[in-house]
Amino acid sequence: MTTAITIEHVSKSFTAGGQRVTALDDVSLSIDRGEIFGIVGYSGAGKSTLLRTINALERPTAGRVVVDGVEVSALGGRALHRQRQRIGMIFQRFNLLQSRTVFQNVAYPLRVAGASKDEIVDRVDELLRFVGLSERALEHPSRLSGGQQQRVGIARALANRPDVLLSDEATSALDPQTTSEVLELLRRVNREYGVTIALVTHEMEVVRELADRVAVMQQGTVVEHGAVYDVFSRPSHPTTRRFVSSVLHHLPDAEALDRIRRVHRGRIVQIHVENRESNDPFLSRIARQHDVDYNVVYGGVSELQSRLFGTLTVELLGNDLDVDRAIAGIATSAAIIELPPSAEQATSAAEELIHA
Ligand SMILES: Nc1ncnc2c1ncn2[C@@H]1O[C@H](COP(=O)(O)OP(=O)(O)OP(=O)(O)O)[C@@H](O)[C@H]1O
Ligand SMILES: [Mg+2]
Repeated sequence: MTTAITIEHVSKSFTAGGQRVTALDDVSLSIDRGEIFGIVGYSGAGKSTLLRTINALERPTAGRVVVDGVEVSALGGRALHRQRQRIGMIFQRFNLLQSRTVFQNVAYPLRVAGASKDEIVDRVDELLRFVGLSERALEHPSRLSGGQQQRVGIARALANRPDVLLSDEATSALDPQTTSEVLELLRRVNREYGVTIALVTHEMEVVRELADRVAVMQQGTVVEHGAVYDVFSRPSHPTTRRFVSSVLHHLPDAEALDRIRRVHRGRIVQIHVENRESNDPFLSRIARQHDVDYNVVYGGVSELQSRLFGTLTVELLGNDLDVDRAIAGIATSAAIIELPPSAEQATSAAEELIHA
C-alpha cells in the first residue's frame, strides 16, 4: 500500500474582520493510494479548508501537503497548474458553466490542457457514457436534475484522468435516493479508474456507504481516525459517538433507558457483538440451559464492510441465581454488562462495554 496524500502538521488561519480564525490546527493524516477516505465533522470544523489544501486552493500557514511525492503546498505557476490536473474536484453546488452544454462542460478542462479536437470528442464520449448521460450531451445543465448535474460534475472532474478526486459535500444537495446513485457512481470511479477519493461530508451515512477509512474533525483538529468498521463499532471520542449514533441506533439514550426500566422490571443487560464467525445461537441456548427468559428490548446489529457488529439491550427474567449464571454463560460468547439501576451509571457502563 503506497501513500497518495500526506498531510503533515498542517495549520491554517484566516484573518477576517480583524479577527484571527484558526481553521486547521496541526493536522496530520495520510491517505493511501486507491482508497476512499472520508472526512466528517460539524459545520466550521475545517473540513473544506483541509480538502482545499490538497489541491492548493488553500495554502497552509504551517506544515506541508504532499500528493504523489510532490509537495503541492510549495508549488506555484505552471507546476501548480500541471499538478492540479492530476487532482479532480466536485462540489455541493456542482459549479457547472450554465451557458455551456453538458458536452462543453466536460470538454472544458481538456481544452484548457491543450487536448486535440479528436481527443476531446473521444474522451467526452467515453466519460458521458461512463456517467450515463450520453443522450444529454447537447443540453444545458439547467435542464438536468441535481443528480444528473453532479454526474456531469464527476465526468468533468475525471476529464484529465486524475489520480485523486476531491469531493466537498457532493451529495449534500441531493435527496437520499439520488445520493445513493451518486455514491455508487463514485464507487465505480474508485474501482474502475483506480482513483483515490477524499470526501468531505457532514453525513455519517455517506461515510458508512462509501469510505474505507474516516477522520472525524472538530475545531480544526482530527479527533479520531481509522478504518470505518473500527470507528463505527468502537467510537471513542464523544463527537464520533454522536456521529455514529446518528446512523446506528444500537444504544438507547438515557430517556429511552428510563422508559425501558418503567416497562421492564427484570434485570437489564447489554450485549455487544462483534466480528462473530460462529453461528451459535448463544442467547437462546444459554437462556434455555439456565431456565431464564429473555426479552430483547432495544438495539440492533449492523453490517459494515461485510462484518457484523451491534449492541442488544436485553431483559433477563428468572431467579437471581439463574440470571447470574446466564450472564456468566453469555460472557463466554460476547461482551456483556449488567446495567446498574440509575441511568447515568448505565451510560458509562455502556461505554465500558464497547471498549472492553
Ligand atoms: N476564506 C476564509 N476567510 C475567513 N475564515 C474562513 C475562510 N474559510 C474558512 N474560514 C473559517 O474557517 C473555519 C473552518 O471552515 P471550513 O469551511 O473549513 O469548515 P467546514 O468544516 O467545511 O464547514 P461546513 O460544514 O459548514 O462546510 C470556519 O470557522 C470558517 O469560518
Ligand atoms: Mg465545508
